[in-house]
Amino acid sequence: MSVIEMFRLLRVSTTNFLQAITFLLVIILGQNVLAQNISDAPDDGVTPADWAYSVAPPSPDINTVFDLPGSAGPFTYGQIRNAFAPADWYPDDHPTMPDIVANGRYPDVWACALCHYPNGKGRPENAGIAGLPKDYFIQQIRDFQNNMRKSAQPRKFNTSLMVTIAQGMTDQQIEEAAEYYGSMPWTPWVRVVETDEVPKSRFVVGMYVPIEGEGAGMEPLGMRIMETPEDVERAEIMRDPTAGFIAYAPIGSVAKGQELVTNGGGKTIQCGVCHGADLMGLGYVPGIAGRSPSYTVRQLYDIKMGSRRGTSTNLMQPVVTGLEVEDMINIAAYLASMDIEN
Ligand code: HEC
Ligand code: HEC
Repeated sequence: MSVIEMFRLLRVSTTNFLQAITFLLVIILGQNVLAQNISDAPDDGVTPADWAYSVAPPSPDINTVFDLPGSAGPFTYGQIRNAFAPADWYPDDHPTMPDIVANGRYPDVWACALCHYPNGKGRPENAGIAGLPKDYFIQQIRDFQNNMRKSAQPRKFNTSLMVTIAQGMTDQQIEEAAEYYGSMPWTPWVRVVETDEVPKSRFVVGMYVPIEGEGAGMEPLGMRIMETPEDVERAEIMRDPTAGFIAYAPIGSVAKGQELVTNGGGKTIQCGVCHGADLMGLGYVPGIAGRSPSYTVRQLYDIKMGSRRGTSTNLMQPVVTGLEVEDMINIAAYLASMDIEN
């Protein structure tokens, strides 16, 4: 069974956290079993390769050691993925982490640093949370807690996990995490490339990874944004919080997005009115420039669908009502491409 299939199975069981943990363990252990099966598979030139099955290559063994230049490493694969004390590659690029960020609280509050990284850059499948206004940050945790912020895509497993994590946090932990991540400025790490052809990719838990070797090639991008690591091993395996992403976007999307963002294009309201002239945030309202375009599209869509409907989300309703998915893609491409200064 592939990891993707396991995630599909999770659709109905995400409310049960213990079950979720068990599934994750199955995934991790299962991949080692998978590795065994692959090496046992007949090398007969007849059995099709991984690409035909859309399966990810087996994960490294948890004891495999990795290192990054100038880091506090080496760390084992197990340490890198430890949900209650994930590896901190670059302890000097951020202030001292509060305990909840670095270690979480066993068993239901996973360390924020695992998914959002110690420096708050996050990944396309979760969220960049550095530089968010403190009040906004706290309100989002409240919205998750009160089931006012869910994903419009029921198979998006990690948003359900975020809900469980929020529900397990104390007021003090919320305050500390908001203060910590809010103290760091947002710096972009996504490079937007307009194109109509992209490398054929497979989906590894949360992100597109180009296929190498057999099955590699190019395919049409179509109407989507494909966010993929600049360096697959560093981003995906080592969870390097400095390894950025490329966002392939449709040709012309940046200019169309700019028109919508700055003038409304007859379909929406100028974003700068509320998000600040530089779109880096204003008071309660968060910055939206230079962030993951997949994240941005997801939020616009979730808000339009009403699955994200927190205490202050209604201010965004008139903004998204007239937007089609294609407009959201254009907006996200432009926002991600913006040169931002702190
Ligand atoms: C298992 C991975 C995971 C962990 C661990 C995690 N989060 Fe999240 N978090 C997510 C995902 C996924 C989202 C985005 C949900 C979406 O796109 O709908 C998110 C979103 C957020 C947001 C909203 C960001 C925004 O711009 O609105 C905040 C705030 C946040 N998380 C805080 C935390 C804190 C604090 C912790 C630690 C106590 C934490 N998260 C731990 C996965 C995680
Ligand atoms: C009338 C004020 C207003 C306008 C205009 C506005 N926004 Fe917002 N936006 C908000 C508020 C308030 C929030 C926080 C919502 C919440 O608390 O859930 C927000 C949140 C967002 C988010 C989610 C950010 C995150 O970190 O999750 C995105 C993306 C966004 N806005 C995009 C846009 C875009 C694109 C435009 C212009 C086309 C725009 N907004 C115009 C008020 C506004």
